[in-house]
Amino acid sequence: MFNINENIINIGVKDLKSDLFEGQYTIKNGIMYNSYIVLDEETTIFDTVDNKFTQEWLNNIRSVLQNKKPSYLVIHHIEPDHSGSIADFIKEYPQTKIVTNSKSFAMINQFFKLDNEIEKIIVKDGDILSTGKHIFKFIFAPMVHWPEVMITYDETSKILFSADAFGTFGIYDEKDGFTSEEWAQEASRYYIGIVGKYGVQVQSLLKKVSGFNVEKICSLHGPVLNRDLGEYINLYNIWSSYEKEKDGVVIAYSSAYGNTKKAVELLDISLKEKGVKTILIYDLARCDLSKAVADAFRYEKIVFASITYNAGLFPMMHNFINALVSRNFQNKDIGIIENGSWAPMAKKTILSMLEKCKNLNFTQNNVTINSALDEKSTQEILFLADELSK
Ligand code: FEO
Repeated sequence: MFNINENIINIGVKDLKSDLFEGQYTIKNGIMYNSYIVLDEETTIFDTVDNKFTQEWLNNIRSVLQNKKPSYLVIHHIEPDHSGSIADFIKEYPQTKIVTNSKSFAMINQFFKLDNEIEKIIVKDGDILSTGKHIFKFIFAPMVHWPEVMITYDETSKILFSADAFGTFGIYDEKDGFTSEEWAQEASRYYIGIVGKYGVQVQSLLKKVSGFNVEKICSLHGPVLNRDLGEYINLYNIWSSYEKEKDGVVIAYSSAYGNTKKAVELLDISLKEKGVKTILIYDLARCDLSKAVADAFRYEKIVFASITYNAGLFPMMHNFINALVSRNFQNKDIGIIENGSWAPMAKKTILSMLEKCKNLNFTQNNVTINSALDEKSTQEILFLADELSK
C-alpha cells in the first residue's frame, strides 16, 4: 500500500506466487494487481484484485477506512485478475454501490451470479460521478483489453485510472526510479502479448484522452507513471500503430541438430561485420516466447530460420508465427532461412502463414540449406546479411 497523493492510496497487492499470468505469460518478477481508494465526502474504490489475494486486499481497505464504509466500487474491467474479489467485497460492504457499464454487469453476473444482491449504477461513455471534491469521468475503452473495459479520468487530481492500458509485469516499489525504456522491457511484453491485436482500439482510446490534462497514470498493473508521460504515451502510440520502434534485426530460429543454428550464427557474425548494431537471437525451443513476440513487433527487421518438419514447420516456429499473425503482425522487413534434407517446405509454409499480414517486405535474398551449410547456402547467408544491413 502506498499513497499516490494525500487522498488517493494504492491498496493493491503484489503477486510473487504465480508462475504464469493468464496461464501463459511468465512472471518471474511477479505482477501487481493495483486497486485504488479515493478518500472524499463519499469514498470510492477502483477495482478489486485477483482472488488469491482477497483477504490481503480487504485488510488494506479496513486499515485505510477503519469503520467507514466505501460508497462506490468502480469496476473498470471484469477479467478475474481485477474482479476476483468482487463477491467477497460485496459480502463485507453490501451497501456499496457498484459502478460500471452494462456489459460489465452482464459479465459480473456470468462470473459471480450477484445480480440481485448489488446496488448498481450503470454508466455510459462520458458519464460523470462526483464524490465531493473529486469528479470522475468514465471513458469506454472497448477491447483494451476486453469489450467491457472502461477507464476513469479524475478531473480533480488529473489522474488517469487507465485499467490494463500502460500496465506491465513486475513489482515496483513506489520509490523505484525507472526510465521509460526500462519500463518498456516488460510493458511491451505485456502490451503486445495481451492487447497487441487491438491496436485500432488503443489508437482510438489515445485519441479520446489526448485532450485531457493528465499528470499521473495509474494502471491496474505496475507502477504509477508520474513523469515523462509523453514518452510512455509515445511508446503506446508506436506499439498500437504497429510502427517500427527500434532499428535492429531479430533472428528467431528453430534447429533440431544445430545446423540451422550454425546458419544463424553465421548470419549474426555477418550482420555485425556489416555494421548492424542490434541483433537479437531467439532459440524458439528455449526462449520466453512472449519476449520473442514483443521484440518481433518492436524491431524493424526479422529473420525466420527454421527446419522443415512434417512437410511444414518445426512446431515452435509454427507457434511463434501464429502468435505474431494473431496479433496483427505488419510493417516489417523479413528474411527467411529454411532447412530441409529432402523436401524443404519451411519457406513456403512461412510465406503462407504470413499471407494475410499487411506491409511485409520480403528480402530478395533468402537461404535454403539442405541439411547443413555448404558453399551455396553460406553465400546466400552473406547476401542476406548484406541486404538486411542496408
Ligand atoms: Fe489485467 Fe485484462 O486484465
